[in-house]
Amino acid sequence: MSTTIYFFSGTGNSLKVAKDVRDRLGETKLVRISKESLSITSDNISDKIGFIYPVYFGGIPYMVRKFIENLEISKDVYIFAVATFGSGAGVSFNQIDSILNRKGTALSASFSLTMPGNYQVMYSPLADEKQERLFKNSDEEILKIVDSVKRNEIKNSNKAGGIKKVAFRFIYNTFKPKDKDKNFWTTEKCNGCGICSKICPANNINIVNGKPKWEHRCEFCLACMQWCPQKSIQYKKATLKRGRYHHPKIKVSELFQK
Ligand SMILES: Cc1cc2nc3c(=O)[nH]c(=O)nc-3n(C[C@H](O)[C@H](O)[C@H](O)COP(=O)(O)O)c2cc1C
Repeated sequence: MSTTIYFFSGTGNSLKVAKDVRDRLGETKLVRISKESLSITSDNISDKIGFIYPVYFGGIPYMVRKFIENLEISKDVYIFAVATFGSGAGVSFNQIDSILNRKGTALSASFSLTMPGNYQVMYSPLADEKQERLFKNSDEEILKIVDSVKRNEIKNSNKAGGIKKVAFRFIYNTFKPKDKDKNFWTTEKCNGCGICSKICPANNINIVNGKPKWEHRCEFCLACMQWCPQKSIQYKKATLKRGRYHHPKIKVSELFQK
């Protein structure tokens, strides 16, 4: 029995969940969805496949969509999805199921995990105690997820329906991440350390003359802004006075691209 978990993560929430699920499931490999791993186009060795990702604008990150669309999967494989989010999974499970349906297969089970919201473009990070409460709760939920996956439980009640589905589809259609990066800039604190470039899953940042240069193939995961050790990277003006967030138990080096 072997499981592969494909995860996407900007600030570590989804990576932390993927690691915890892996450690408890056993015989599980983790693969980060990134520009490099888009070259993976088939998985015919795993008995179980998991997708773990953050919800963006009520749906799946663009790169996750592209990755699943490209991936050839055998029909008898158990496929599960875990969405991490600040407030809800939106239509993300519907989207994954539809992509799989077009391949002649389907999502076997879907799971939701509320984690600290990392969209600091719009709001401040949660206070530490609130974060801790969410982590404690997610630790308990992960035990249930692992138990379900071990038993090959079929669980698809999490898909959005009715007016919610219409609303989230509308919101997702407004998500155009590619050139959002034109709004990133650095304060004088930037020392050209290059961490933003190393962690970017889209390989979208080059260091030119000691400063980051965004190349307009952004996924809008905010990893560059959130992990900048100098807190130098800003998005428009609103982030100047806001704190930053990344999962406290994930090290930045765990997200470095090779
Ligand atoms: C561009 C963007 C859009 C987001 N949209 C949503 C959303 O629609 N609903 C929600 O509940 N959380 C939303 N979030 C919050 C993230 O889904 C959440 O913090 C997630 O756990 C981050 O995972 P990560 O640390 O693995 O990147 C958004 C975050 C970003 C960066």
